[in-house]
Amino acid sequence: MEEALSRGARGGTPRMNQVIVNDVAPRDGLQNHPAAVSPEDRVGLINKLVDAGVPAVEVASFVSPRAVPKMAGAAQVVAQLDLGRAAFSALVPNRKGYELARAAGVRSIALVLSATEQMNRNNINMGLDTATAVCREVLQQANADGLEARCYISVAFECPFEGTVPDSEVERLAAEMFKAGVTEIIVADTIGAGNPARARALFGRMVAAFGAERLAAHLHDTRALALANVWEALASGIRKFDASLGGLGGCPFAPGAAGNLATEDLVSMLHQSGFQTGIDLRSLLDALQLLASLVGTPVGGRALPWLESQYPAEPP
Ligand code: COA
Ligand code: ZN
Repeated sequence: MEEALSRGARGGTPRMNQVIVNDVAPRDGLQNHPAAVSPEDRVGLINKLVDAGVPAVEVASFVSPRAVPKMAGAAQVVAQLDLGRAAFSALVPNRKGYELARAAGVRSIALVLSATEQMNRNNINMGLDTATAVCREVLQQANADGLEARCYISVAFECPFEGTVPDSEVERLAAEMFKAGVTEIIVADTIGAGNPARARALFGRMVAAFGAERLAAHLHDTRALALANVWEALASGIRKFDASLGGLGGCPFAPGAAGNLATEDLVSMLHQSGFQTGIDLRSLLDALQLLASLVGTPVGGRALPWLESQYPAEPP
């Protein structure tokens, strides 16, 4: 493993065997789910995740409730959180979203820039150049306001409308965003079209250009390759990953976007491979149970039956 993990690594976050998991279930997981989960219940879920030791959670998106009705009530979610408990962030697509997020007390925003013209148009109703300019403007404001700002580069492997995205384009957009003041780029395989060979090339290139400590990966599991792609990202030195409890998730504006990499699958693989996350898997299964009750259907990643056999529920 050591040899595999040393390829292209540039140091990563504090210790090579520590991984930061950012759970995006309350946002990416619920935004496209048929069940509408109230702000109060989303807060309950977020607190359960933090109880399990999840260090970072994407708690909401400040988007148009007409575009994404399931994310309505973002300010109510943020208002009910104890902001010191974990690294909470919220997705922001434009200036108005930024203003609303700041007013709600958000301290860390995640901007979203898709790597293609058409995906930006379908997702946020702006072309790539306008979206880039808007991100730049919001970043300037966020930096002036002292908010942390990260940026997704979405459809980084493949766009549902324009096909394969060149790695050079992902690097170009990331460079623009770093220049504009983001602290971190989240390379997002929005439709789960990546594979380990491409992941090795893209993450290797990005780490060489920007350093692993400024990068995170957001991988969907559409083709059951998310964990393999995580492994390649780990090998390139990246130590920050998004994942979604229960494997929920998908972008409503990207056809074919199936579920995210399930947090429990990711944490399970990381722990088995000798990485530390600070997450207690037994408690994570409690959070999963809560999520299932909130959405009204069983949820869980590929490893769930095995995990349940390893961490049986406490008798009531
Ligand atoms: N939050 C809430 N309302 C917003 C908003 C935001 N971030 N941005 C715009 N609006 C409101 C405007 O105030 C306006 O309201 P009105 O009709 O009552 O006056 C209306 O939405 C239209 O504003 P406009 O600026 O023309 O937005 P748009 O129709 O071009 O939509 C987005 C742009 C970005 C708001 C919309 O496409 C969106 O919310 N997309 C979300 C995408 C998403 O969440 N994808 C999944 C995660 S990547
Ligand atoms: Zn996603």
